[in-house]
Amino acid sequence: MNGNGSRTPDPRGLLGLSPVLPVVVLDDADAAVATARALLAGGVGVMEVTLRTPAALEAITRIRLEVPDIVVGAGTVTRPDHADRAAHAGATFLVTPGQTDTLLDAAVATGLPVLPGVATVSEALRAAERGLDTLKFFPAEASGGPAALSAFAGPLPDLRFCPTGGITPANAARYLALPNVDCVGGSWLTPADAIAARDLGRIETLAREATTPAA
Ligand code: 3PG
Repeated sequence: MNGNGSRTPDPRGLLGLSPVLPVVVLDDADAAVATARALLAGGVGVMEVTLRTPAALEAITRIRLEVPDIVVGAGTVTRPDHADRAAHAGATFLVTPGQTDTLLDAAVATGLPVLPGVATVSEALRAAERGLDTLKFFPAEASGGPAALSAFAGPLPDLRFCPTGGITPANAARYLALPNVDCVGGSWLTPADAIAARDLGRIETLAREATTPAA
């Protein structure tokens, strides 16, 4: 898809758009625009639509066209063909939960910012060798949580992370306090039942709570 509807920041810029990158599962493309608008109303200007549902690509296209003020990307990019399909649908960035050479080749070839998933120092080094220095730490809680990521900062001071997987309002601040973290990712802003019921007020409130610093 060609279009100028959304800004396309570089990966570092992406992490700076919001303290929380919502990971959004959309079963119904008809819910996409309303969900995006609710996040935006709550102060969240970026969202990752996971390629886990048949509706995901159409959802990305609709958001890109109808909610140009939110930066929409594709997540759960797990196969090389996902990368191109997401780019054509209008995704402005790609997030992978892990990495293979073919997957990263395809993702980088789109020209879009890519956040590759890593869980270990070795995986982070592999990504960095390709010039990918802004990474998704996944699954964050299961991979050692803030303690692990804090330890990464010693040998890998130039890498930045968006920890995702098991992040909640209760533990997000512990990640955000780390020097190598600019944002966390999480699905809690867009609960499946709230999307299904079009409970946009709840999504907006969750977004606002996630973006409002604690008093
Ligand atoms: C992801 O795809 O990034 C994760 O499944 C999101 O994890 P969470 O549901 O624990 O936030």
